[in-house]
Amino acid sequence: MAKRVVLAYSGGLDTSVAVRWMMEEWGVEVVCVLVDVGQGDAEDFDAIRARALAAGAIECVIVDARDEMAEEFCAPAILANARYEGKYPLVSALSRPVIVRHLVDQARKFNAQAVAHGCTGKGNDQVRFEVGTHALAPDLEVLAPARLWGMTRADSVDYAAKWNIPIGATKEKIYSIDENLWGRAIECGAMEDPWAAPPEEPFTLTRVRSQETVELTIAFEGGLPVAVDGVSMSLADIISTVTERAGATGFGRLDMVENRRVGIKSREVYECPGALAIIAAHCDLEDLTLERDVHHEKLRLETRWAELVYDGMWFSPLKEALDAFMSETQRSVTGEVRLRFEAPGLMRIVGRRSPVALYDYGLATYEAADTFRHEDSEGFVRLWGLGIATWAARQGAKNASARQG
Ligand code: ARG
Repeated sequence: MAKRVVLAYSGGLDTSVAVRWMMEEWGVEVVCVLVDVGQGDAEDFDAIRARALAAGAIECVIVDARDEMAEEFCAPAILANARYEGKYPLVSALSRPVIVRHLVDQARKFNAQAVAHGCTGKGNDQVRFEVGTHALAPDLEVLAPARLWGMTRADSVDYAAKWNIPIGATKEKIYSIDENLWGRAIECGAMEDPWAAPPEEPFTLTRVRSQETVELTIAFEGGLPVAVDGVSMSLADIISTVTERAGATGFGRLDMVENRRVGIKSREVYECPGALAIIAAHCDLEDLTLERDVHHEKLRLETRWAELVYDGMWFSPLKEALDAFMSETQRSVTGEVRLRFEAPGLMRIVGRRSPVALYDYGLATYEAADTFRHEDSEGFVRLWGLGIATWAARQGAKNASARQG
């Protein structure tokens, strides 16, 4: 029996060519799996399925994982305020483990011995696919045809034409784009020069569509968003709603030079209005509700969480332990945050409230309602500075004797 391979299929040129190439070079049967992680309806899934079959796949399975992406992958990222290198909310890094999970499931269903992906050797996504697969299914082999075939984009277009694979792509497709519910990553083209300003053309989510100020109130319970402007929705719908409303004012673009896991610095451009607005609101609510030491420790661990997920370690014991820490801190992160968006691209948080706020008006106010015991401060401050005062006195004595001597 021919060896069977389950391929992570996007419907694009590379993964379509990969189907035929693996069949021809390795004599394998290919099952395509397209995982819907909220990549929008750029193209309908029937057309993508037809293309997979035209390329030679024995089957093309389409999995609806939009809610799974939201609830099991975006949710922990919200709790951890996850931003790699302080900026990038891990758009692609979050979707890879979802896809891996379904690749492994389908590999079992179809009795496959291997899974495959269409990544090249230069990026992070190969790391996430392979490390993730080995964590869930150490027995499965992972194949990376695009890392081996040595074809340029033009070669791939010719290859698709030769095998009658219906591809819309042209030889000069400019950008490499990866999209899901959490945002969009845009690479290549003019942006490979870090000095060149990104052109307007590849942006979709953050194209300014309204000059009007948009105000949104996001309600959180136990650290997760549960409603927008008083309307309860699933997390996936909250993310799309905020993406749509905030993106319309141009908010949510990132332009950064980032350290890939494979040692390359690359210029990356993202648009993630929903992710950035939700994380900003969540951070703000934590300012109001988290106890100081918990909050400061959490800030340190958030950096580590984002690095692990960026580096393909979603299914790892440290990441799981950090998730447990994050969840433990979130019981009191309940309340509402008001965000104001003004075109083009400005966001401000203008209010927050919580039934369990640690903000105490009596303690904070300078007005007559003040309940703070001012007399306690004198002794506290003296002890706080006692060590420094003692040290300074000794320094003074030393300096004085040095001047005399
Ligand atoms: N640099 C980002 C990351 O590593 C984006 C990757 C985008 N992937 C892609 N196949 N275009 O998460």
